[in-house]
Amino acid sequence: MLEEEYNPRRKLPPHLKPAPPAEPAFAFEIRDATSRDIPHMLEIYNHYVANSTVTFDEDPLTLKEMRAKFAKVQELHYPWLVAASPRGVILGYAYVTPWKPKAAYRFTVENSIYLGPASTGKGLGKALMAELLPRAKAAGVKEVIAVIADRGADASLAMHRNFGFTEIGHMGKVGFKFGRWLGTVLMQKSLK
Ligand SMILES: CC(C)(COP(=O)(O)OP(=O)(O)OC[C@H]1O[C@@H](n2cnc3c(N)ncnc32)[C@H](O)[C@@H]1OP(=O)(O)O)[C@@H](O)C(=O)NCCC(=O)NCCS
Repeated sequence: MLEEEYNPRRKLPPHLKPAPPAEPAFAFEIRDATSRDIPHMLEIYNHYVANSTVTFDEDPLTLKEMRAKFAKVQELHYPWLVAASPRGVILGYAYVTPWKPKAAYRFTVENSIYLGPASTGKGLGKALMAELLPRAKAAGVKEVIAVIADRGADASLAMHRNFGFTEIGHMGKVGFKFGRWLGTVLMQKSLK
């Protein structure tokens, strides 16, 4: 007979059981994006293309399209930031692009921010925006516009409101995705 069959293992009473290991803290670093981050950002973005109405794109963005967007932002010296985990996993990103190509709009940008689905609701959006806005201001931006879907983007609406964006318009039924009409809420913030 085995030793443990003579002396059956005693079960520890619940109060003596060791506590389960603590959840690792949600740690991240915010830095400028590099071209090596593009495939990871593309994966995050295409998740929302396929599964949500927060973007009105319906077809996945290609690597080439994302690279072109990134190159344009770099060329303008506008901020494009990523949040990376301590192991280097890209958790989310944020950037600004010109609001319109016509010259008189040159001080106005549109901001974009996307977090991997597992990284939402933990304050990372707030942290990225808090870094993005002063960086945009330092790059000469005066006005920031957010174009937010009027359905399924409550976190984005709340976050922009918290950063002092004010609603400047609501366009109804300008998009059609997943068999239903969608509108956009326009929000604006002056970087004074
Ligand atoms: C929008 C997004 C960037 C916000 O970032 P986040 O880290 O999830 O949000 P945070 O945890 O920083 O919370 C920001 C605020 O929104 C609130 N919020 C978060 N999720 C919410 C929800 N589902 N409904 C309502 N409010 C919400 C939070 O309470 C917080 O407000 P508080 O500071 O007063 O507590 C993120 O959720 C995301 O990437 N979503 C999918 C992509 C997207 O919608 N991008 C924006 C396109 S315009």
